[in-house]
Amino acid sequence: MSEYIALPPLPGELDRERVLAHLPKVMATIKRNIARIGERNPKIGNADYSWTHCGPFDWVSSFWAGQLWLCYQTTADEQYKNSAKLRKSYFANMLLDPFWLDHDLGFQYSLSCVAEYKLTGCEESKMMALRAADHLIHRFRKVGGYIVAWNDTHPLALEKPDVIQGKSIIDSLQNTALLFWAAEVTGAPRYREVAIRHSETLAKHIVRDDYSTYHSFNFDPIYQTPVKGETFQGYADESCWARGQSWAIHGYAQTYQYTKDDSFLQLAKKLARFAAEVITPDGVPVWDYRLPADEIQYKDSSAGAITAAGFLLIAQSLEDKAETLPRESEERQQLLGEANEYRDWGLYLLQGLMDQCDLCDNEQAQGLLANGASFVKVGLCDNMLPYGDYYYLEALMRAHGYRNFFW
Ligand code: GLY
Repeated sequence: MSEYIALPPLPGELDRERVLAHLPKVMATIKRNIARIGERNPKIGNADYSWTHCGPFDWVSSFWAGQLWLCYQTTADEQYKNSAKLRKSYFANMLLDPFWLDHDLGFQYSLSCVAEYKLTGCEESKMMALRAADHLIHRFRKVGGYIVAWNDTHPLALEKPDVIQGKSIIDSLQNTALLFWAAEVTGAPRYREVAIRHSETLAKHIVRDDYSTYHSFNFDPIYQTPVKGETFQGYADESCWARGQSWAIHGYAQTYQYTKDDSFLQLAKKLARFAAEVITPDGVPVWDYRLPADEIQYKDSSAGAITAAGFLLIAQSLEDKAETLPRESEERQQLLGEANEYRDWGLYLLQGLMDQCDLCDNEQAQGLLANGASFVKVGLCDNMLPYGDYYYLEALMRAHGYRNFFW
C-alpha cells in the first residue's frame, strides 16, 4: 500500500457546486476575448486589463493557444479552433532560429503543436513538435543527468556567466511532457529516458528535505557535480517561490501519469502537503511561501491556478489507482479517501481564485485572473498572466473529470 499523505483541514467553507458551475462562464469569457486578442499571443496584463503581447521566443507564447484548444476540445466550436490555428507561423518561425530556444520548448509546443496534432491529426504540427522535442533533449547533460535551462543569451548570463551552463530549474518539470509525448509518438525510448532522469535528478537536488523547493539548482558546468540551490524569481535562495512549488506539484503528478512510477506520485503529494500547510487561509498563495512579514504580501494567482490543477491531477491519479482494485478492498477505500482530500483542496484553491481574482464579470478584461506575480523583484506583480488563465481553465476542467490534456 502506498503511504497516505494527509492534508491539513480546509481553512474555510467550500461550496463545491458553485466552483463546478463556474466553468461555462470561464469558457464564455475566453470566447469573448477571441476577437480582441486576434493573432497575437498575450504576455502580461496591463492596468486596464488589456494585454501586452509576446515577441518571438517568449516562454508564455502558447498559453492562449492552449486555452483555445481546450475550449475547442470541449465544445467542438470551430471559432476556438480557427483562432488557435492562426498561431502556427509563430511556432514555425521559432524553429528556424534554434539558438534562442531553451527548456521552455515543452510549454511552447505542447499547448500549440501537440494540441493541434492531438485534436486535428495535423502532420505538420506533429513534425514541428517532434523537432522541438529534439532540441529539448539536446539540452540534456548526460553526466549530471539534467536538462540545462537557459542559454548564454539569458539575462542571468550577464550577471553569472559561470553558472548559466550548469543551471537546472524547477519549471522544466512541466516541460518534460513534450519528451514523454515524443517517445509515445515515435517509439524512440531516448526522449522518455531523458525526461525520467531529469525528474529523478531534480527530485534529489531541487526538492529539500521538508518538501519545499529551490527555484533552480546549479551543477558544475565542466564536471557536472551538484553545487547548490539558488533562486531567480523567488525572494531568496533559501525561500520557497510559490510558482516554483506549483510547477513541481503539477510536474511530478504528470510524471507519474506518464511513468506510473509510484515514487513520483508520492513526491507530488508531499510537495502538495507542504503548499497546503503554508497557503494563506483565503486560498490564494503569496508569491513566496517564505516571504518575510515586513515585505508587501503580493499574491500570485498563477501559482494558485497551477497548484489547483496539480492537486486535482493528484486526485485523478489516486482515483485511477483505486479503480484497478476490488470494490471492497481496504486499499481502494483508502485511495478514494485520499483522493477526496486532494480534490477538495483543489476546489478550495479554485474557490479562492474565483472569489478574489476572477475577472469574468469585468466586460473590459481580456483575461481571466487578476493578481498574478510574474517577477516581483523587477516590479512585475498584480498583473493578468496567460499561464494563470490557462491553468485556471485546466483546473476547472479537471474538477469536472476531464482527463485529456496536451500533457
Ligand atoms: N517559467 C518561468 C515562470 O514560471 O515564471
